[in-house]
Amino acid sequence: MEMRGADEEKLFSPSAARNAAAITNVLGPVLKPAACVLEIGSGTGEHGEAVCGLRPDIQWVPSDPDEVSRRSQAARAGEIEGLQAPLDLDVSVPGWTHGLPKHDVLVCCNVIHISPWAVAEGLARGAADILEQEGRVFLYGPFLEGAKTAPSNLEFDASLKSRHPDWGVRALEDVISLFARNGFQLENRIDMPANNLALIFSRTAT
Ligand SMILES: C[S@@+](CC[C@H](N)C(=O)[O-])C[C@H]1O[C@@H](n2cnc3c(N)ncnc32)[C@H](O)[C@@H]1O
Repeated sequence: MEMRGADEEKLFSPSAARNAAAITNVLGPVLKPAACVLEIGSGTGEHGEAVCGLRPDIQWVPSDPDEVSRRSQAARAGEIEGLQAPLDLDVSVPGWTHGLPKHDVLVCCNVIHISPWAVAEGLARGAADILEQEGRVFLYGPFLEGAKTAPSNLEFDASLKSRHPDWGVRALEDVISLFARNGFQLENRIDMPANNLALIFSRTAT
């Protein structure tokens, strides 16, 4: 649940406030000096703000198909070094990368479970287009891992499906297969607080 700030444009998400430091810690080492980052489904824009706060050398472009979210991201953009104006990107639209420059890292937190699978497919396909050869994909969120799945993630999956039949916590193996079909391998998997994972994908060696 997102809350409105005093300036009526900036949104604040309690979960983003809780996980921003943990995400910044694991994402920081993935970002080479002066890295160009594109974030998909940036929501309130707090993750970009947190990372840019520690890494003034990088350029971080937030995005979202939702206009209210983009206004929140735009309100943050002017306030911190490196945080750029948001783009209107819907990764389920074929060719969403058209006209965009290459980036070093594609970041996507808490999006692919709360949208249809076509969004994950568009994300992986777009990553292949938009990333530099040495680029990385950084995915964060809950995942299903068979019998190892945390009960809280099973409950979350059921509640997402009750809200929309095409939503749901994704199986880690399906996400790894999807990125493999698009030329990426899982380079690192990091256990995060509250039964979330951070996944880092790099291009499969050819
Ligand atoms: C649960 S919020 C996560 C926001 C933020 N990344 C975070 O972790 O706090 C999901 C976001 O995904 C965005 N989204 C939904 N469908 C999308 C799509 N097809 N392409 C890009 N973003 C999408 C929503 O507008 C929303 O801002």
